[in-house]
Amino acid sequence: MTCVFAILAVSVHACDIHKNYLSHPHLGRRQNLRRAEGREELDWEYSRSFDWHTIRPEYATCQSGTNQSPINLISSQGLATTHQPDFSGYAAHPEVAGNFFNWGFGPAYTLHHEGEDFSTLPAMKFDDQTLFLSGWHIHLPSEHLVDGVRSRAELHMVHVDAAGEAKSVVGIRIDPSQDPNVKSAFMDSLPELIHFNDTAEMEGVMTYPMAQIEEVSSVKEYWTYQGSLTTPPCSEGLRWFVPKDSLKVSVEQMVKLLGASRFSHRVEQTVLLHQINV
Ligand SMILES: *[C@@H]1O[C@H](CO)[C@@H](O)[C@H](O)[C@H]1NC(C)=O
Ligand SMILES: [Zn+2]
Repeated sequence: MTCVFAILAVSVHACDIHKNYLSHPHLGRRQNLRRAEGREELDWEYSRSFDWHTIRPEYATCQSGTNQSPINLISSQGLATTHQPDFSGYAAHPEVAGNFFNWGFGPAYTLHHEGEDFSTLPAMKFDDQTLFLSGWHIHLPSEHLVDGVRSRAELHMVHVDAAGEAKSVVGIRIDPSQDPNVKSAFMDSLPELIHFNDTAEMEGVMTYPMAQIEEVSSVKEYWTYQGSLTTPPCSEGLRWFVPKDSLKVSVEQMVKLLGASRFSHRVEQTVLLHQINV
């Protein structure tokens, strides 16, 4: 197999490691490594996430919002019976192609789509809304707490409307399993993880979005609430789904994830008008 890295040659990755990094019917053999477009210069830091509103007026909502994320979820208050998310639209896209990179804090992925039209991406429905999976990224440790306990990581599956505006996030906590037979198929399907300092971006990486969903019992049991982006400008109006199950990875997978990621959780927010499970 020949490997052509267009702009940035990161030769430490041997090509045969990327078994899923093969040609895609719509992409031909576009397999490039280049600087990640998803990486912007940030004017905020996680070590000061309690104070983001002081940086710029545009970040005011981070302090004065009434639906800020993340929050602590309390299991004795029960799980949701409303807004049941339906991932059957994912079935039409068993495999998707996208760009794999590190968002500066952990692994990240954006799905390829045609132009400005997001409606061809895997669809998730709840109530009367149809939203589309535009990508995912991982935080370390988890942003959401359950009964005050923080998981080792959290996967955010971002869903947008047809115009590309973020409307809902599925926040899947990730924990290592003590069972030596447990291994995450989702983690296993990824190429070798890209380090947080490495701006390389791999194009045309095939992934299987249903894997993450199935690994948390298809999100049949979950908490849901009205929340926000967990990074500035902390915009509100997003419906969060947090599956009851955390995604279980092997210790070896966890060690790799820890090594490629860095501290990226926002401080716990006060519950005000979040309407948890309402
Ligand atoms: C990451 O990059 C920063 C800034 O260039 C550098 O100071 C730091 O040593 C790097 N860390 C690692 C682990 O490579
Ligand atoms: Zn996130």
